[in-house]
Amino acid sequence: MEQFPASFLWGAATAAVQVEGAYKENGKSLSIWDVAKPKRIKNGEDCHFGADHYHHMKEDVALMKKLGLKSYRFSLSWPRIMPKEGEINPLGLKFYSDLIDELLKNGIEPMVTLYHWDLPIWVEKKGGWLSKKVVKYFAAYVLAAVEAFSDRVSYWITLNEPQCFIMNAYLVGAHAPFKHNFLALAKLTRNTIQAHFAAVKIIREKAKKAPKIGLAMACGAFTPEKRNDPAEIEKARQETFDSLSGALANKWWGDPLILGKPVTVFKVFKIQVKDLKDFLPLDFIGLNIYQSLNSASWDSTGEKKKIGAAETYLHWGLTPEVMYYAPKFMYERYHLPVLITENGYADNDFPCRDGKIHDPQRSDFITCYLSELKKAIDDKIPVFGYTYWSLMDNFEWAEGYSPRFGLIYIDYQTGERTLKDSALFYSSIIASNGKDI
Ligand code: BGC
Repeated sequence: MEQFPASFLWGAATAAVQVEGAYKENGKSLSIWDVAKPKRIKNGEDCHFGADHYHHMKEDVALMKKLGLKSYRFSLSWPRIMPKEGEINPLGLKFYSDLIDELLKNGIEPMVTLYHWDLPIWVEKKGGWLSKKVVKYFAAYVLAAVEAFSDRVSYWITLNEPQCFIMNAYLVGAHAPFKHNFLALAKLTRNTIQAHFAAVKIIREKAKKAPKIGLAMACGAFTPEKRNDPAEIEKARQETFDSLSGALANKWWGDPLILGKPVTVFKVFKIQVKDLKDFLPLDFIGLNIYQSLNSASWDSTGEKKKIGAAETYLHWGLTPEVMYYAPKFMYERYHLPVLITENGYADNDFPCRDGKIHDPQRSDFITCYLSELKKAIDDKIPVFGYTYWSLMDNFEWAEGYSPRFGLIYIDYQTGERTLKDSALFYSSIIASNGKDI
């Protein structure tokens, strides 16, 4: 295979709740995930350890450097930076400032996600995403982050997957704060859109270094049954944006946040054009891509899963072709350069008798998905980076610690880190700039 573009950003990602630990150290207040009741999380686990990254930060950056990563996507913890209304925690800022310095010292581009689901309890108590006050609280926190880090950070991601933190958390009740409130969808959508617009405005106006602003979408695409059939491709594109699962994953958030346009059904929810008046354009679109929307294990078609179908530990289908079609369909609709902000494989990895973590399936997954991404790039879809989820094993939300997505194995008893075979494999891909795929 020919190489990827010379400036391609090979990276890996994490999120604060999932890896940091130190959940009440050095002035951090609690988030909605810190207080999740044991019955909400598999095996009664909690996020308090994460991967103890807070205490292993330099070691983790050294491992990134060893792997040859060009970029690292991480999120800031809102309650670590702003533990109370109107109060900025200098030690919270210091942790991220040190991390950013350490990354830059090692030639790794920091990519900051401002919201990856850890709403502070003090905001939740005032109504959380259900109250429009969230917009001003989020704006104040974003301003503190931009003032502190924008001299060194260029890449800003406002929100991680509104699809999930609104749908899973407030409608389905599977994620913190575990609410079931379908009737509040309009309010939740309006507040989320406006919080995003407020963040974009602050970054544009206040950033010291020219910013590149995006958001990370939980992106699924339908894929055609037959690749070379134009009618099948059009059908897949249409389902990607207009079927129920496609619209909720892509159009519902993509159209207002990226194009500043309401979707037709917003009328029913009384979301009006004036609610979108603060729209500002983005510089890129971040796509979190795991499986196609028509994969049987996703079950959006109601199709019965085939016995023995290839799937991950979380029963997600292995559908590499989504890594071609999702960037293509999203670019053709939204016309923004694409960054793959997440893509990864969960398994129940463990150390073998030789002490190593042999995870050939993950290396195979990476190979297959990257081959499809390269086809998209060859077809002139401007993809400028790929970020593997996740740099290290971590707390997988309501699934607890058993699904392991990491390139780095974490011993949750000791905090010891071990590079999995797939980490070395990914490192060799980076070293050849994708030629060895
Ligand atoms: C989220 C991550 C999560 C990953 C795997 C994405 O939806 O952004 O936080 O761990 O998928 O489930």
